[in-house]
Amino acid sequence: MMIVSAYQNKPEFGRMSENIDRLLKAVDKQDFDILILPELFAVGYQFLNRREAISLAEPAGDGETYERISALARQKKALVIYGFPERDKGEHLYNSSLAVYPDGSFRLYRKTHLFDTEKEIFDPGDTGFSVFDFRGTRLGMMICFDWRFPEAARKLTLLGAQIICHPSNLVLPHCPEAMVTRVLENRVFAITADRVGQESRTGTELRFIGRSRIIAPDGIVLAEADNREEAFISAEIDPQVADNKDVTSRNNIFQDRRPEFY
Ligand code: ACM
Repeated sequence: MMIVSAYQNKPEFGRMSENIDRLLKAVDKQDFDILILPELFAVGYQFLNRREAISLAEPAGDGETYERISALARQKKALVIYGFPERDKGEHLYNSSLAVYPDGSFRLYRKTHLFDTEKEIFDPGDTGFSVFDFRGTRLGMMICFDWRFPEAARKLTLLGAQIICHPSNLVLPHCPEAMVTRVLENRVFAITADRVGQESRTGTELRFIGRSRIIAPDGIVLAEADNREEAFISAEIDPQVADNKDVTSRNNIFQDRRPEFY
């Protein structure tokens, strides 16, 4: 059994230190094995242009966000996953997530399916989807709009993921319900860590819908936040439940697949 959790935040654009301060205060007394944070959680979402995004970006495994999140992972002996704008060593800028282990080592995912104006800011991710282990549990990452492509969750599950970790900044209304479907299609746990609040820096108002969720492989919502407030949600789960792909005594959703017809 393990405790999995998500922190739904309301970041103030560009105020990295204060946004991280609020997160650390909110989780200080909480106990968890895995914590998922939203997409771009420390910097906000609506960049004026690519140059501004680069000024708030960090390399993977370096910078204030990484330093403070890896200290949290060490203190809690937990895996912490967070979204951030990633500046790589060259000219590239990615919308990325990092899974940080208690010893400071990490796994990186770069968002595959960019949403709307993100196409003007970020390069499309080039990591693809992969699965990694934390204390015998297999995890995979996808970011926000990746939910709209069922191939993302399917690929992670075919690779063996028991938990899909899903940092998000949702603006369209459909994802919380759609993630129940993604879970039923794959019999896997899913944790969406979303944000709330609004931004209108470019003249277009964005309202973030919150409703962060932890969903079990049978589609049951184990924990959910509302659409307005910062919140910490958690659930105790047995990740091995996700290894059972049987739906009836005659149906196994992996063995019954017929890829020759797809
Ligand atoms: C999104 O992908 N942040 C909507």
